[in-house]
Amino acid sequence: MADAPTGKVTFVGAGPGAADLLTFRAARAIAEADVVIWAASLVQAEVLEHAREDAEILDSAAMSLEDVVAVYRRAFEEGLKVARVHSGDPALWGGTQEQLDRCHRIGIATEVVPGVSAFSAVAALAERELTIPEVAQSVVLTRLGGGKTPMPPGEEVREFARHGTTMAIFLSAARSGQLVRELLEGGYPTETPVVVAYQATWPEELVVKCTVGTLEETVKEHKLWKHTLFLVGPALDAQGTRSHLYHPGHFHGYRKADPEARRALREQRAKS
Ligand SMILES: C[S@@+](CC[C@H](N)C(=O)[O-])C[C@H]1O[C@@H](n2cnc3c(N)ncnc32)[C@H](O)[C@@H]1O
Repeated sequence: MADAPTGKVTFVGAGPGAADLLTFRAARAIAEADVVIWAASLVQAEVLEHAREDAEILDSAAMSLEDVVAVYRRAFEEGLKVARVHSGDPALWGGTQEQLDRCHRIGIATEVVPGVSAFSAVAALAERELTIPEVAQSVVLTRLGGGKTPMPPGEEVREFARHGTTMAIFLSAARSGQLVRELLEGGYPTETPVVVAYQATWPEELVVKCTVGTLEETVKEHKLWKHTLFLVGPALDAQGTRSHLYHPGHFHGYRKADPEARRALREQRAKS
């Protein structure tokens, strides 16, 4: 006897907006879906061009978690494939865990397809590496606390700012005054570089460079309060450092070191 149909829900990371930042795997999951649930305000409509003509298309903006779970239950009973399209990467502020937990309870198969997060897209637009040798070797992905989502103790922007490394700050444009206060309290100097990006990779995209000292006026001047991401930290304008990985004196499994350059690198390391 054939197995009863069980269906599948694929959580698809659709990237920051531009449809050509979708991965091949994401496009395939959308193309194979009987039902596509997407956030119309966060994902460009072009993404739906991958969907079958007869696919059922639902906008998640009008749905509660219960409505969405009812679709997953129907998919389990009728053996349907669902593509649940999230902006950026589904692992970050997507409300995906509560959906995955419910899918597991229903017993329907699940898969998660990673996507290009907004912080990667903004770093690419600014043409900045977020980890620069001897300047910043960590990236903190966070948001301001307050409002509907209080921060767990020790996770306030002020606390992370004490590390002085690169921060990518999501979901915080509406409280730019508080953001600046916490960044300064944490110890960033006012001249610390900042990249402000609104609707990155959308037609209305805006990417502005400023400093912690001018962040609030920049946000207010451009009337930004949502769909905005901030990159903060000295790596955003650091110059003149080089990585050891591509130094001619550094060797690894695929490349021999140049002996002269290796001696020079050793002497340099001993001095520092
Ligand atoms: C609910 S979170 C989703 C984050 C998403 N999962 C990701 O990986 O990028 C929404 C926030 O992400 C940031 N964001 C998402 N897409 C963006 C874009 N295209 N440009 C600027 N910020 C964006 C903003 O901070 C926005 O308030």
